[in-house]
Amino acid sequence: MRNARSDPFTPGFGNLPRIFAGRSTELNDLTGMVDRLRDGVYEQPRMVTGDRGMGKTSLLLQFEQEQLEAGRWVVRAAATRDGAVIARLCRGLADVLWEHDVAGQLAETARSVLARLAGITVSSLGVSVDREHDTGAMSVGDELRDLLTATARLAREHDTVLVLLIDETQNIDLDTLGQLFYAIQEVQGITIVERDGDSGAMRRDSLPMAVVVAGLPGLVGRLKRAGSTFGERSRPHRLLALERPELLVALREFARDGGAAFDADAADIVADACGGYPYFLHVVGSHVWRAGDGEVIDAEEALLGVRQAAPYLADFYDQRLAEIGQLQRSYLATAATIPPEQRTSAVVAEALGRPSSQLGSTLGALIDTHGLLRSDGTGRLVFALPGLDRFLADRSP
Ligand SMILES: Nc1ncnc2c1ncn2[C@@H]1O[C@H](COP(=O)(O)OP(=O)(O)OP(=O)(O)O)[C@@H](O)[C@H]1O
Ligand SMILES: [Mg+2]
Repeated sequence: MRNARSDPFTPGFGNLPRIFAGRSTELNDLTGMVDRLRDGVYEQPRMVTGDRGMGKTSLLLQFEQEQLEAGRWVVRAAATRDGAVIARLCRGLADVLWEHDVAGQLAETARSVLARLAGITVSSLGVSVDREHDTGAMSVGDELRDLLTATARLAREHDTVLVLLIDETQNIDLDTLGQLFYAIQEVQGITIVERDGDSGAMRRDSLPMAVVVAGLPGLVGRLKRAGSTFGERSRPHRLLALERPELLVALREFARDGGAAFDADAADIVADACGGYPYFLHVVGSHVWRAGDGEVIDAEEALLGVRQAAPYLADFYDQRLAEIGQLQRSYLATAATIPPEQRTSAVVAEALGRPSSQLGSTLGALIDTHGLLRSDGTGRLVFALPGLDRFLADRSP
């Protein structure tokens, strides 16, 4: 029955959607990375970037679920500005160890690292944390390296892979980021030399530790400016809006999940209105769902739902625009009035009546810091948030 209770759409952030749309390229790559590490082959860390609400956390959650089902040891930590990400990782590692280190194989060093680094004690009774713990002057990078090494070795003995998922990486201060990436690189550089039982040949295995970091697009530039090579050493995945065919498949599945169906016109209307942006998919989808109670969602209900969702989308755009300064705003407003195929920085500068050279830092901030624009690789500027150009153009006098 189609009603508010059966609404399959879940607007919000950081939740795992009932239906996971698209992202098969990214998921295949992440799965392949873990499979190869399981075989002892080195794999670069992966860096997932994307605008707010583009689905980074959902991708990590979906991947985590799949990996847990495959028996991998997954530790996920979201960074906050208080610098607690390492303590959170330690906590996750301690939980994994407590769950799997049944025979107490974990080296005593790792136990003492957990105690020193995060005030964590792992015993047969469980995991406990000393909240007053102070890391003092110790080398966090080295300690973390030892802990990750010990855990990855244990994972190898259990024929599995330690999977580290770090979300909201843009929040980590540069000092902590340096220590974290140092530890990761050190562990990934360790090889174990073994003679192959069948062929007798020497094999050099990497430790099975997979790393995925996720964050806002500005992360890449921030790492570069801080002199970190992590960005260059990891394989990037930039999440963009979902493609139309993926979107249409997902809409069909969402509707089926709730016990209804979109007719073809209604599906097109919803797809147009959300532009493939995952957050909008839920906001628009939910309003359209609730615009009627029949088993088939038709175009009329879709149009009504889209109209009702519009103020929420406008709010979202307004919030994003509130982050930026006046010149950046006029840059965007002007760019929005130029047809997408002609939208280059030179054309925007001309329309603004200023030399391009004066607008470099404005454009740089819109791309790197705010992630509102990106370059499509051929010099054209693209609005990262679907529909923001239409929204601005409709508003301009
Ligand atoms: N592939 C997907 N299929 C269906 N829904 C999705 C998908 N990706 C994200 N969503 C939904 O979109 C919303 C935003 O996603 P999410 O919180 O993962 O974005 P994010 O990139 O992590 O944003 P932020 O930068 O604010 O943390 C959530 O409601 C989520 O359920
Ligand atoms: Mg997120």
